Amino acid sequence: MLLHVDFLPLRDAEPDAAASAEYDAWLQRIESALEDPDVDRERFCFEILRDIYFPQYAGQALDEVPAAVRLPLLALDPRNITLEPEQYAEIDVEKYGRVKPLLWLWQMFDKSILGQNVHLGVRFRRILARHIFKRCGKNFKCFHFAEFSFGYNMEVGDDIVVHRHVLLDDRGGIELGDRVSIADYANIYSHTHSIVDQRDVSNAKTVLEEDVRITYHATVLAGVCVGRNAMVGAAAVATRDVRPFHVNVGVPAKSVRVKPSAPPEASGTTTVDSLRHSS
Ligand SMILES: CC(C)(COP(=O)(O)OP(=O)(O)OC[C@H]1O[C@@H](n2cnc3c(N)ncnc32)[C@H](O)[C@@H]1OP(=O)(O)O)[C@@H](O)C(=O)NCCC(=O)NCCS
Repeated sequence: MLLHVDFLPLRDAEPDAAASAEYDAWLQRIESALEDPDVDRERFCFEILRDIYFPQYAGQALDEVPAAVRLPLLALDPRNITLEPEQYAEIDVEKYGRVKPLLWLWQMFDKSILGQNVHLGVRFRRILARHIFKRCGKNFKCFHFAEFSFGYNMEVGDDIVVHRHVLLDDRGGIELGDRVSIADYANIYSHTHSIVDQRDVSNAKTVLEEDVRITYHATVLAGVCVGRNAMVGAAAVATRDVRPFHVNVGVPAKSVRVKPSAPPEASGTTTVDSLRHSS
């Protein structure tokens, strides 16, 4: 039985002032470095990670550190690792080269002792997102363990919230309208495979229009448009477009209701296109 509470606004949960000052200075350093075109991003991201994981080896040559540490130290450097999207044939190598160090920094920050710290992590990811995404609006808020494919095919509006463990496969592009919310463990895909030959891959941009909510563990397949103010229920799989203001649940996801806040034209047989721009 659910306990119903009318409205639960978020509390401010600020850390201790001294810690907060340290966090601010660290974030400022990262922001300045990323805005400086002369900074070597690969080197910079490696140094940030080395300082998180192995600060005692700063400034030491590889052959001076204990043998057991050499491999993990090497692997913190984005130049020494490969990530799955690098194997995709359609990758734009130049664009990916610019964002790869930041994607690696993002992932390894999340897995580190700093990664579960909401106060620090949300602001850290917001800085990185602005340098990774094709477009990133204001107040991007992302919790830990979100994952991207290329990152550079993400187009993100204002006031977006991405919760824990969300997969944003932007291979074919993902567009998120203002105020979209994606709940824990949801998956948004933009590529698919032929049922005959799995090497035959098709990319299709997936669009979540403004005020859409994708709830826990739901999946949205490649090329689907979830219309404005629509909702995809927990664990649903959206295989087709979701009409604006509709609540779709199940596998495959079907409309079970229209939100009471919907304009009159949102019910029944209305198409996504005709509602997309109605007020
Ligand atoms: C989609 C959802 C919001 C629907 O809530 P609702 O409008 O109150 O709908 P109801 O609970 O009245 O359900 C309507 C019907 O759909 C079914 N249904 C609801 N959610 C379902 C789901 N996720 N999967 C399958 N069926 C579902 C109900 O069993 C009910 O079927 P019935 O009429 O045969 O009994 C809700 O079920 C859900 O998935 N919530 C996820 C939690 C959430 O809000 N997350 C947001 C985090 S940011």
